[in-house]
Amino acid sequence: MVMLAVPAVHAAPIVLGFAQVGAESEWRTANSESIKRAAKEAGIELKFSDAQQKQENQIKAIRSYIAQKVNVIAFSPVVESGWDTVLLEAKAAKIPVILTDRGVDSKDTSLYVTFMGSDFVEEGRRAGKWLVEDLAKRGMNGEIDIVELQGTTGSAPAIDRQKGFLEVLKSHPNLKVTRTQTGDFTRAKGKEVMEAFLKADPKIQVLFAHNDDMAIGAIQAIEEAGKQPGKDIIIVSIDGVKGAFEAMMAGKLNCSVECSPLLGPQLMQACKDLMAGKSLPKRIQTVEGVFPAEKAAAAFPSRQY
Ligand code: AHR
Repeated sequence: MVMLAVPAVHAAPIVLGFAQVGAESEWRTANSESIKRAAKEAGIELKFSDAQQKQENQIKAIRSYIAQKVNVIAFSPVVESGWDTVLLEAKAAKIPVILTDRGVDSKDTSLYVTFMGSDFVEEGRRAGKWLVEDLAKRGMNGEIDIVELQGTTGSAPAIDRQKGFLEVLKSHPNLKVTRTQTGDFTRAKGKEVMEAFLKADPKIQVLFAHNDDMAIGAIQAIEEAGKQPGKDIIIVSIDGVKGAFEAMMAGKLNCSVECSPLLGPQLMQACKDLMAGKSLPKRIQTVEGVFPAEKAAAAFPSRQY
């Protein structure tokens, strides 16, 4: 068995290779900025690559970090599957790997030292629970027609957020997801898919979007279709980015479940701990909240992303 032996004390600056998913959303931009800023502040040399939402680009970047003999590799996997080969290569090169934001479905958990990020299933549940309570407050007890904009197909947040949301809906048989399609976590695709949903089904009452960017794209589509987002169609999404707060304050979005992208400081601390020979917990979970529209204005000034 190959052991991930790291020196007890690491004198030279730590070199971190980070393979980012892309720049698909406001969330992702904030995440990249957090990592770059935290690396600078921690005195860690950062090698950063943008995979443009393509797994093969992330694999290439990881291989180049292995060839460059960086001290630590971190990445946010675009999809859950298909990482074992490259992770085994990192392990054979004795380079520890940290998963940030998204997990992998590898059975062999020794292929990475830790996974830091949100509980996406819980985020889906929070969106579902908020919706159930909101509909009850509005007295909407009949059949409810919900459409879902999914994140990138095969990605951990898309799989898990759907799972958590449907789990809550199970005990509310009047709430039905009638249409579901990927919007790839982008505004442009969120808008495009919502346009198609609206054409096919004029009775949509609720939109659940796996991220704020797709919800913001969908809001445009709803307005262009002559409907009022946030009123004719109730919208709940995930992330809690500034754009979502602005939409909530304008009455166009009803709730955003928080998913923090500010993982930079935690990641740098983890690199330092690893290089100092300390062991890390296998799971480092981000603490997050839920922001219904009525709390948006008060919370907005202190939002960091
Ligand atoms: O993995 C986190 C998700 O990826 C965020 O919800 C989304 O906005 C991003 O692109």
